[in-house]
Amino acid sequence: MPATASIRKQMDALRTQLHYHAHRYHVLDEPQIPDAEYDRLFRELQQLELEHPELLTADSPTQRVGGKALDGFAKVRHKVPMLSIRTETDIEETGAQSFDARVRRELGLQGSAPPVEYVAELKFDGLAINLRYEHGVLVQAATRGDGEIGEDVTQNIRTIGQIPLRLPADAPAVLEVRGEVYMRRDDFEKLNEVQRQKIAGGAKAEKTFVNPRNAAAGAVRQLDPAIARQRPLSFFTYGWGEVTPAEQGGPVFETQYQAMSTLGSWGLPVSNRTQLAVGAAELIAYHRAVGTERDVLPFDIDGVVYKVNSLALQRQLGFVTREPRWAVAHKFPAQEQMTTVQAIEVQVGRTGKLTPVAKLAPVFVGGVTVTNATLHNEDEIRRKDVRIGDTVIVRRAGDVIPEVVSVVIDQRPSNAPIFTMPALCPVCGSQAVREEGEVDHRCTGGLFCGAQRKQAILHFAQRRALDIEGLGDKLVDQLVDANVIRTLPDLYRLGLTSLAALDRMADKSAQNVLDGLERSKRTTLARFLFGLGIRHCGEATAKDLARVFGGLDAIMDAGVEQLLEVPDIGPVVAQSIHTFFCQLHNCEVVEQLRACGVTWEEGPAQARAPRPLAGKTIVLTGTLPTLSRDEAKDLLEAAGAKVAGSVSKKTDYVVAGTEAGSKLDKARELNVPVLDEQGLREMLNGSA
Ligand code: IVH
Repeated sequence: MPATASIRKQMDALRTQLHYHAHRYHVLDEPQIPDAEYDRLFRELQQLELEHPELLTADSPTQRVGGKALDGFAKVRHKVPMLSIRTETDIEETGAQSFDARVRRELGLQGSAPPVEYVAELKFDGLAINLRYEHGVLVQAATRGDGEIGEDVTQNIRTIGQIPLRLPADAPAVLEVRGEVYMRRDDFEKLNEVQRQKIAGGAKAEKTFVNPRNAAAGAVRQLDPAIARQRPLSFFTYGWGEVTPAEQGGPVFETQYQAMSTLGSWGLPVSNRTQLAVGAAELIAYHRAVGTERDVLPFDIDGVVYKVNSLALQRQLGFVTREPRWAVAHKFPAQEQMTTVQAIEVQVGRTGKLTPVAKLAPVFVGGVTVTNATLHNEDEIRRKDVRIGDTVIVRRAGDVIPEVVSVVIDQRPSNAPIFTMPALCPVCGSQAVREEGEVDHRCTGGLFCGAQRKQAILHFAQRRALDIEGLGDKLVDQLVDANVIRTLPDLYRLGLTSLAALDRMADKSAQNVLDGLERSKRTTLARFLFGLGIRHCGEATAKDLARVFGGLDAIMDAGVEQLLEVPDIGPVVAQSIHTFFCQLHNCEVVEQLRACGVTWEEGPAQARAPRPLAGKTIVLTGTLPTLSRDEAKDLLEAAGAKVAGSVSKKTDYVVAGTEAGSKLDKARELNVPVLDEQGLREMLNGSA
């Protein structure tokens, strides 16, 4: 039948694809597609085989558990097969419910029967290992392989500090421990950094790893134990294989939980998130709790695992093909997915930083639909070689901005051009430059660049700068989009009519904005300087400049040498300030702001005001009776002190008000003198 022929063809194609990707994953440790994509192809084939059992072949990837062994390692036949577990693809809470319902049905439990007790565990994202101990000594470690035959990786596993090489005397004569070898995220980042440096140093054979799991798998199956040793691995226990039976003096395991505690007592690492859960409700609660913690755990997990706690019930439930009926993996939404790059756009930030962003075909990943992924900078694009039209793996973990992990090279369209950063700012057409030693390209357009304008206005209006009440981001968006405001001085030229004409702006609120603008005109030199948004000129630098130079003209006229005389100003900052005031359009903005009535009191250069606290570092904590935090900070800084955010041995004083917390404790612990507001005032007067 032609229908069957075409289905057979489809199934053949799926099998070929799955074999190819399984080889890349299991043997080469270089997967080309995300797990979720592999799972999708796998399920598609499984479904077809279910509908057409006559077309099922013995060599179908659905008929085996794991991957093939790499040639370099000795083969190990597992005494007890290493099984896999059924995956609950239902990402909703119903996954736990349907597992519990299945277990109850298969155990013949009535609705009125008490809830089943489970063990809930993390599903670690690494690779399964069998550790064989004989008379308490680790004699062999093997990968799962195809579940029957794995690879002897004893040498490499011995390098994992967390795995005991010897067990205490009460351990049984034979004990096989099963668990997951994984790499912590911080270890993974460090390893990749080392790899990158090796590549930069010209080491051709080195590569960076796509994720911690591949790095772990690569390390375990690394043929050179000297290299394996340099790859930091960790281990968690979640089960066992062959164990001396109780009647021959072996341990009496009655529940999963008790077995885990016993293994833990013998020095094997068991996660402290392994816990008992009674009935479906507690499984759901566990799934939910772990889901919220997922991103703050120090290692990757891809779900949770539920297991029936009683081993007697486990035996009663038994297995279907290669999967136990007493356990299930309940996954979380995948954090990696495949999609295509439709375009690469360049976005401009407040300081002119140009960020390349991949515009993606919409894809559901990490629980949301993603259409943009940052490509960070030119070097990152080069390193990953991302091009328009490419199929890529996108990762979104937690609230982190989605990013492109890697390119599926063999799906690249021919003639996909290499992306280069534009020579001109895509928004204002000014020159875009990449300074030496920097990774970012920047638009040199400053306050004239349209994209920087919104950000620059918000920066100018913020509380610690000109403090313009009522000028929020929605309003700034409207004002800039409608071209009502092009430069900062335009703010002070706003009239009631143009404001009230904006969306959702009543006369009253328009008047409030005008009042806020009027009030902001009386400011200080430091606030004004900070508000200009000069690169590298933060609040503290602005205050230093104002104090040392006394007036704006002196600052605008200062050369780099003079700027360098200001304490705490280094060459980069000095150059940046000088360059800013060398640009005519920036000077015009300053003049116009002054012409609009923005004023401040100027002081003498090198104000000879007493600086009783020069060189002192002070930390503020709690609520002071009369001074706000900002006021106290201003007073202290004017007196020459540095106000720090946390207490250390270098802190000279802590000024504490009511409800002071851990900073006060820390001060006491380190014997740092603690003052109240009265003490602060005395110190400022130089009388303390
Ligand atoms: S139990 C018979 N528990 O997930 C049950 N597996 O197919 C055997 N995994 O590759 C597995 N965390 O390496 C179990 N807490 C956990 C696990 C876990 C991760 C891995 C295991 C295997 C796959 C299950």
